[in-house]
Amino acid sequence: MKIELKHVTKKFPNRNRKIKEFVTAVEDMTFEIPDGALVCIIGPSGCGKSTALNLISGLEMPTDGYVLFDGEDVTNVPPEKRGIGMVFQSYALYPHLNVRKNISFPLENLKGADKLTKDQIKEKVNEVARIVQIDELMDRKPGQMSGGQQQRVAIARALVKKPKVLLLDEPLSNLDARLRIQTREEIRRIQRETGITTVFVTHDQEEAMSISDLIILIKQGVVYQIGKPQELYDNPANLFSAKFLGNPPINVLGGEVKDGFLYVGTDKALPLKLKDYGNRRVFVGIRPEGLSLSDDLRDEDCGIRAVMKSVETLGRDTSVIAKHHAMSDGADLRAIISSDHIKEIPESGRVCFTININKIFLFDRETEERLDFEYLGVDESFASAIRKAAAEKEANEVEPSVEKKEETSSEPEKKPKRSKGKKGKDHDQK
Ligand SMILES: Nc1ncnc2c1ncn2[C@@H]1O[C@H](COP(=O)(O)OP(=O)(O)OP(=O)(O)O)[C@@H](O)[C@H]1O
Ligand SMILES: [Mg+2]
Repeated sequence: MKIELKHVTKKFPNRNRKIKEFVTAVEDMTFEIPDGALVCIIGPSGCGKSTALNLISGLEMPTDGYVLFDGEDVTNVPPEKRGIGMVFQSYALYPHLNVRKNISFPLENLKGADKLTKDQIKEKVNEVARIVQIDELMDRKPGQMSGGQQQRVAIARALVKKPKVLLLDEPLSNLDARLRIQTREEIRRIQRETGITTVFVTHDQEEAMSISDLIILIKQGVVYQIGKPQELYDNPANLFSAKFLGNPPINVLGGEVKDGFLYVGTDKALPLKLKDYGNRRVFVGIRPEGLSLSDDLRDEDCGIRAVMKSVETLGRDTSVIAKHHAMSDGADLRAIISSDHIKEIPESGRVCFTININKIFLFDRETEERLDFEYLGVDESFASAIRKAAAEKEANEVEPSVEKKEETSSEPEKKPKRSKGKKGKDHDQK
């Protein structure tokens, strides 16, 4: 089922009755959720995630705009007629009923033509129990199960009516870290197995990155970016998106593009120019893995200089924490260095970094929108190819020069690469 929101706005009367102004929970929201996809809605607390989900389910009616299912306007269709299944943070299971009864509950109340026989109910319940892998627990009561198991029962209950859309609002918040990871993988597996269009609300970017086909990032009721998880990480459209995704978070520093160089604070960081603007003050975002330790920088070298603070060993990687004068809000600068290079890390004093061009983003200081730039330096792979060629040339030239005559006769294929003068000489000889 394809889900579309078209210019949807939702305003609530303020909970504090003394305040007359309405709260805009969702503002002019437009997006499309493809059929069969698992889409995560993410954003900070209070940004309108649950409201967006409730607008899809029909639990809330929009103040403005339209909700479409497979192109059909369902804006005024009540939730029970939309073919949706919902799972909430609180599993909302009936404590006095066993698992089988909890799952079969939505089927017991069907009326008229939809009414099912006992055997039909049993078959349907067994089928979803198998999918969520709780068929061994059918006689237990909710109190006799772990949080993850209870959440799987809640998912089974949401699936038993074969909904066309599964809506989950922070379903893993009550689980501990390990169970969270396990259960999110379960949800992904169930979603793949059933092919059901799923909308998953979370404030946890890592959760969203790991399971979704598409992420809808919102802030204060407004969509900030929509894309595949890797796209959002590699190509943040704005500073908010860059900051929201990634752990440890992106380093944000004050900077300026001036006369062909990016300055980060007072450091000449990279040779580049903005595509659409001349000199301009910018926010600079550098992903922690985009910083590499460097030897002490000379005045003409590009990079940034910081003061070493501490080192955290994370196993595979090492986190270098340093102070840089241009970090916004006085936060620490963080670099993730592969543990293979751990010996090179100084314990104190000045520490210098070079920047990977694919891991740095520039943002407008006012709008905080991403600014395109053109790198004016030599591409690193190109630079290393040149260095390698130069080293080979040097090696070739130093050794044979002792017996120059023999070299020319034994390696005739090298001749065309030599200087014009030599070529001329060869020509003369012929
Ligand atoms: N029924 C309501 N009446 C008044 N204000 C509401 C109502 N529901 C939501 N809001 C307000 O709308 C805004 C968005 O709320 P919503 O619950 O959608 O946020 P959320 O992103 O789900 O937050 P959280 O991560 O904390 O669950 C908030 O400012 C909230 O206070
Ligand atoms: Mg919420």
